[in-house]
Amino acid sequence: MTRGKLAGALDQLEAYLRYQKLLGVAGLALSRDGWEAFRNLDRSPPNPGLAEPAPIPESTGEVAREGAQPAGEAAPPKPDLAGLARKAETCTGCALCRTRTKVVFGEGDPRAELMFIGEGPGRDEDLSGKPFVGRAGQLLTKIIKAMGLERDQIYITNVVKCRPPNNRDPKPEESAACREWLNSQLDLIRPRVIVALGKVAAHNLLETEEPISRLRGSFRQFNGIPLMPTFHPSYLLRQANPRGPKKMVWEDMKNVLAKMGREVPRP
Ligand code: URA
Repeated sequence: MTRGKLAGALDQLEAYLRYQKLLGVAGLALSRDGWEAFRNLDRSPPNPGLAEPAPIPESTGEVAREGAQPAGEAAPPKPDLAGLARKAETCTGCALCRTRTKVVFGEGDPRAELMFIGEGPGRDEDLSGKPFVGRAGQLLTKIIKAMGLERDQIYITNVVKCRPPNNRDPKPEESAACREWLNSQLDLIRPRVIVALGKVAAHNLLETEEPISRLRGSFRQFNGIPLMPTFHPSYLLRQANPRGPKKMVWEDMKNVLAKMGREVPRP
Protein backbone atom coordinates (compact mmCIF):
# COMPACT_ATOMS: atom_id res chain seq x y z
CA MET A 1 0.00 0.00 0.00
CA THR A 2 1.42 3.40 -0.94
CA ARG A 3 1.61 6.34 1.48
CA GLY A 4 -1.17 8.11 -0.47
CA LYS A 5 -3.45 5.08 -0.27
CA LEU A 6 -2.75 4.71 3.43
CA ALA A 7 -3.65 8.39 4.02
CA GLY A 8 -6.84 7.88 1.98
CA ALA A 9 -7.74 4.77 4.01
CA LEU A 10 -7.18 6.67 7.28
CA ASP A 11 -9.38 9.53 6.02
CA GLN A 12 -12.12 7.03 5.21
CA LEU A 13 -11.75 5.40 8.62
CA GLU A 14 -12.01 8.80 10.33
CA ALA A 15 -15.14 9.65 8.30
CA TYR A 16 -16.64 6.27 9.18
CA LEU A 17 -15.96 6.71 12.92
CA ARG A 18 -17.41 10.25 12.80
CA TYR A 19 -20.52 8.84 11.15
CA GLN A 20 -20.82 6.08 13.79
CA LYS A 21 -20.56 8.76 16.51
CA LEU A 22 -23.42 10.67 14.92
CA LEU A 23 -25.43 7.45 14.83
CA GLY A 24 -24.97 7.24 18.60
CA VAL A 25 -22.12 4.71 18.83
CA ALA A 26 -20.29 5.76 22.00
CA GLY A 27 -17.30 3.46 21.69
CA LEU A 28 -15.91 0.43 19.95
CA ALA A 29 -15.30 -2.84 21.74
CA LEU A 30 -11.77 -4.18 21.49
CA SER A 31 -11.09 -7.89 21.86
CA ARG A 32 -8.73 -9.01 24.65
CA ASP A 33 -6.00 -9.71 22.06
CA GLY A 34 -6.60 -6.34 20.42
CA TRP A 35 -6.41 -4.55 23.77
CA GLU A 36 -3.16 -6.34 24.67
CA ALA A 37 -1.67 -5.42 21.29
CA PHE A 38 -2.78 -1.80 21.79
CA ARG A 39 -1.27 -1.63 25.31
CA ASN A 40 2.00 -3.05 24.02
CA LEU A 41 2.24 -0.66 21.10
CA ASP A 42 4.63 1.78 22.78
CA ARG A 43 6.67 -1.09 24.20
CA SER A 44 7.25 -2.62 20.79
CA PRO A 45 10.87 -2.65 19.67
CA PRO A 46 11.66 0.37 17.53
CA ASN A 47 10.54 -0.29 14.00
CA PRO A 48 12.83 1.28 11.43
CA GLY A 49 10.03 0.83 8.92
CA LEU A 50 7.82 3.31 10.79
CA ALA A 51 9.73 6.39 9.70
CA GLU A 52 9.94 5.34 6.08
CA PRO A 53 7.44 2.50 5.64
CA ALA A 54 8.38 -0.19 3.20
CA PRO A 55 5.73 -0.54 0.49
CA ILE A 56 3.25 -3.26 1.32
CA PRO A 57 2.50 -5.49 -1.64
CA GLU A 58 -0.82 -4.52 -3.24
CA SER A 59 -2.21 -8.00 -2.83
CA THR A 60 -0.72 -10.79 -0.78
CA GLY A 61 -3.78 -12.94 -1.10
CA GLU A 62 -4.31 -12.57 2.67
CA VAL A 63 -5.17 -8.89 2.80
CA ALA A 64 -8.90 -8.24 2.45
CA ARG A 65 -9.62 -6.40 -0.81
CA GLU A 66 -11.99 -3.47 -0.85
CA GLY A 67 -15.49 -4.78 -0.43
CA ALA A 68 -14.32 -8.22 0.67
CA GLN A 69 -15.70 -9.30 4.03
CA PRO A 70 -14.34 -11.94 6.39
CA ALA A 71 -16.63 -14.97 6.36
CA GLY A 72 -19.44 -14.75 8.89
CA GLU A 73 -19.13 -10.98 9.50
CA ALA A 74 -21.76 -8.50 8.31
CA ALA A 75 -20.43 -5.63 6.19
CA PRO A 76 -20.45 -2.32 8.13
CA PRO A 77 -23.02 0.12 6.74
CA LYS A 78 -21.45 2.50 4.22
CA PRO A 79 -21.76 6.07 5.44
CA ASP A 80 -24.04 7.94 3.09
CA LEU A 81 -25.44 11.44 2.95
CA ALA A 82 -29.09 10.38 2.82
CA GLY A 83 -28.67 8.23 5.93
CA LEU A 84 -26.94 11.09 7.70
CA ALA A 85 -29.77 13.47 6.73
CA ARG A 86 -32.37 11.03 8.11
CA LYS A 87 -30.44 10.82 11.36
CA ALA A 88 -30.24 14.63 11.57
CA GLU A 89 -34.05 14.89 11.37
CA THR A 90 -34.27 13.77 15.00
CA CYS A 91 -31.27 15.73 16.29
CA THR A 92 -31.69 17.24 19.75
CA GLY A 93 -28.11 18.48 20.02
CA CYS A 94 -29.07 22.06 20.96
CA ALA A 95 -32.05 24.18 21.96
CA LEU A 96 -32.93 25.03 18.33
CA CYS A 97 -34.59 21.60 18.07
CA ARG A 98 -37.42 22.93 20.27
CA THR A 99 -38.39 25.78 17.94
CA ARG A 100 -37.65 24.35 14.49
CA THR A 101 -40.33 23.11 12.11
CA LYS A 102 -37.97 21.10 9.91
CA VAL A 103 -34.27 20.33 10.02
CA VAL A 104 -32.61 21.87 6.96
CA PHE A 105 -29.77 19.44 6.48
CA GLY A 106 -28.61 20.45 3.01
CA GLU A 107 -29.36 19.76 -0.61
CA GLY A 108 -27.60 18.97 -3.85
CA ASP A 109 -25.17 16.60 -5.48
CA PRO A 110 -23.52 14.22 -2.96
CA ARG A 111 -20.42 14.34 -5.19
CA ALA A 112 -20.47 18.09 -5.71
CA GLU A 113 -17.17 19.84 -6.38
CA LEU A 114 -18.54 23.06 -4.93
CA MET A 115 -20.27 23.59 -1.60
CA PHE A 116 -21.99 26.78 -0.43
CA ILE A 117 -22.33 27.22 3.32
CA GLY A 118 -24.69 29.83 4.74
CA GLU A 119 -25.38 30.72 8.35
CA GLY A 120 -28.69 29.02 9.10
CA PRO A 121 -32.20 28.44 7.77
CA GLY A 122 -34.70 31.30 7.66
CA ARG A 123 -38.49 31.07 7.77
CA ASP A 124 -38.99 29.68 4.25
CA GLU A 125 -36.25 27.12 4.76
CA ASP A 126 -37.61 26.07 8.17
CA LEU A 127 -41.02 25.43 6.62
CA SER A 128 -39.77 23.62 3.52
CA GLY A 129 -36.75 21.77 4.95
CA LYS A 130 -34.62 23.06 2.02
CA PRO A 131 -31.73 25.53 2.20
CA PHE A 132 -31.80 28.90 0.47
CA VAL A 133 -35.31 28.86 -0.99
CA GLY A 134 -36.44 32.35 0.10
CA ARG A 135 -35.46 35.66 -1.54
CA ALA A 136 -31.79 35.26 -0.66
CA GLY A 137 -31.96 31.74 -2.06
CA GLN A 138 -33.39 32.98 -5.34
CA LEU A 139 -30.51 35.41 -5.67
CA LEU A 140 -28.07 32.60 -4.84
CA THR A 141 -29.65 30.49 -7.59
CA LYS A 142 -29.03 33.36 -10.06
CA ILE A 143 -25.38 33.56 -8.96
CA ILE A 144 -25.00 29.80 -9.42
CA LYS A 145 -26.53 29.98 -12.92
CA ALA A 146 -24.25 32.88 -13.82
CA MET A 147 -21.38 30.56 -12.93
CA GLY A 148 -22.64 28.14 -15.57
CA LEU A 149 -23.91 25.70 -12.95
CA GLU A 150 -27.25 24.39 -11.73
CA ARG A 151 -28.27 24.03 -8.11
CA ASP A 152 -28.36 20.24 -8.42
CA GLN A 153 -24.69 20.21 -9.48
CA ILE A 154 -23.50 21.74 -6.23
CA TYR A 155 -24.25 21.23 -2.55
CA ILE A 156 -25.84 23.87 -0.33
CA THR A 157 -25.98 23.80 3.44
CA ASN A 158 -25.64 25.98 6.54
CA VAL A 159 -23.51 26.20 9.66
CA VAL A 160 -26.62 25.37 11.72
CA LYS A 161 -29.30 23.08 10.38
CA CYS A 162 -32.22 24.47 12.42
CA ARG A 163 -33.69 27.98 12.27
CA PRO A 164 -32.59 30.35 15.01
CA PRO A 165 -35.76 32.12 16.30
CA ASN A 166 -36.45 35.43 14.53
CA ASN A 167 -33.44 34.77 12.27
CA ARG A 168 -30.97 35.81 14.98
CA ASP A 169 -27.34 34.75 14.58
CA PRO A 170 -26.65 31.20 15.75
CA LYS A 171 -25.16 31.07 19.27
CA PRO A 172 -21.66 29.58 19.62
CA GLU A 173 -23.03 26.53 21.43
CA GLU A 174 -25.55 25.97 18.62
CA SER A 175 -22.97 26.05 15.85
CA ALA A 176 -20.61 23.93 17.97
CA ALA A 177 -23.36 21.32 18.45
CA CYS A 178 -23.98 21.31 14.69
CA ARG A 179 -20.31 21.11 13.65
CA GLU A 180 -20.19 17.29 13.55
CA TRP A 181 -22.96 17.29 10.93
CA LEU A 182 -21.05 19.75 8.77
CA ASN A 183 -17.77 17.87 9.20
CA SER A 184 -19.48 14.64 8.17
CA GLN A 185 -21.06 16.32 5.14
CA LEU A 186 -17.60 17.51 4.11
CA ASP A 187 -16.07 14.08 4.73
CA LEU A 188 -18.68 12.41 2.53
CA ILE A 189 -18.90 14.99 -0.26
CA ARG A 190 -15.25 16.12 -0.33
CA PRO A 191 -15.87 19.26 -2.39
CA ARG A 192 -12.93 20.90 -4.14
CA VAL A 193 -14.00 24.37 -3.07
CA ILE A 194 -16.24 25.86 -0.36
CA VAL A 195 -17.92 29.27 -0.47
CA ALA A 196 -18.82 30.75 2.93
CA LEU A 197 -21.82 33.02 2.46
CA GLY A 198 -21.67 36.06 4.69
CA LYS A 199 -20.01 37.26 7.84
CA VAL A 200 -21.62 34.78 10.23
CA ALA A 201 -20.64 31.68 8.22
CA ALA A 202 -17.14 33.00 7.49
CA HIS A 203 -16.49 33.98 11.13
CA ASN A 204 -17.80 30.70 12.37
CA LEU A 205 -15.85 28.49 9.99
CA LEU A 206 -12.61 30.47 10.05
CA GLU A 207 -12.72 31.36 13.76
CA THR A 208 -11.95 34.99 13.11
CA GLU A 209 -13.61 38.34 13.71
CA GLU A 210 -12.10 39.99 10.65
CA PRO A 211 -14.72 42.00 8.76
CA ILE A 212 -16.21 40.15 5.78
CA SER A 213 -15.18 43.08 3.58
CA ARG A 214 -11.55 42.17 4.34
CA LEU A 215 -12.02 38.38 4.37
CA ARG A 216 -13.68 38.16 0.98
CA GLY A 217 -11.62 38.00 -2.17
CA SER A 218 -9.00 35.48 -1.13
CA PHE A 219 -9.00 31.81 -0.34
CA ARG A 220 -8.65 30.45 3.20
CA GLN A 221 -8.75 26.83 4.32
CA PHE A 222 -11.46 24.90 6.14
CA ASN A 223 -10.86 21.22 6.98
CA GLY A 224 -8.07 21.30 4.38
CA ILE A 225 -10.40 22.59 1.63
CA PRO A 226 -9.98 26.01 -0.06
CA LEU A 227 -12.73 28.32 1.22
CA MET A 228 -13.74 31.60 -0.37
CA PRO A 229 -15.64 33.97 1.94
CA THR A 230 -18.05 36.30 0.16
CA PHE A 231 -21.01 38.54 0.89
CA HIS A 232 -24.32 36.88 1.82
CA PRO A 233 -27.08 37.25 -0.80
CA SER A 234 -29.29 38.85 1.91
CA TYR A 235 -26.66 41.55 2.32
CA LEU A 236 -26.83 42.25 -1.42
CA LEU A 237 -30.62 42.45 -1.19
CA ARG A 238 -30.42 45.00 1.65
CA GLN A 239 -28.20 47.44 -0.28
CA ALA A 240 -29.79 50.57 -1.75
CA ASN A 241 -27.18 50.34 -4.49
CA PRO A 242 -25.97 46.74 -4.70
CA ARG A 243 -23.79 47.19 -7.84
CA GLY A 244 -20.48 47.43 -5.98
CA PRO A 245 -20.93 44.44 -3.64
CA LYS A 246 -22.53 42.37 -6.46
CA LYS A 247 -19.43 43.00 -8.58
CA MET A 248 -17.24 41.86 -5.69
CA VAL A 249 -19.26 38.65 -5.27
CA TRP A 250 -18.86 38.00 -8.99
CA GLU A 251 -15.07 38.51 -8.69
CA ASP A 252 -15.09 35.95 -5.87
CA MET A 253 -17.12 33.48 -7.94
CA LYS A 254 -14.72 33.86 -10.89
CA ASN A 255 -11.86 32.94 -8.54
CA VAL A 256 -13.89 29.96 -7.35
CA LEU A 257 -14.44 28.80 -10.95
CA ALA A 258 -10.72 29.18 -11.65
CA LYS A 259 -9.88 27.11 -8.56
CA MET A 260 -12.27 24.43 -9.86
CA GLY A 261 -10.59 24.54 -13.26
CA ARG A 262 -13.79 25.77 -14.94
CA GLU A 263 -14.19 28.46 -17.57
CA VAL A 264 -16.03 31.65 -16.66
CA PRO A 265 -19.17 31.67 -18.83
CA ARG A 266 -19.58 34.61 -21.20
CA PRO A 267 -22.41 36.95 -20.15
N1 URA B 1 -29.82 32.34 4.75
C1 URA B 1 -28.94 31.39 5.09
O1 URA B 1 -27.84 31.68 5.59
N2 URA B 1 -29.27 30.13 4.87
C2 URA B 1 -30.42 29.75 4.31
O2 URA B 1 -30.64 28.56 4.12
C3 URA B 1 -31.31 30.79 3.95
C4 URA B 1 -31.00 32.07 4.18
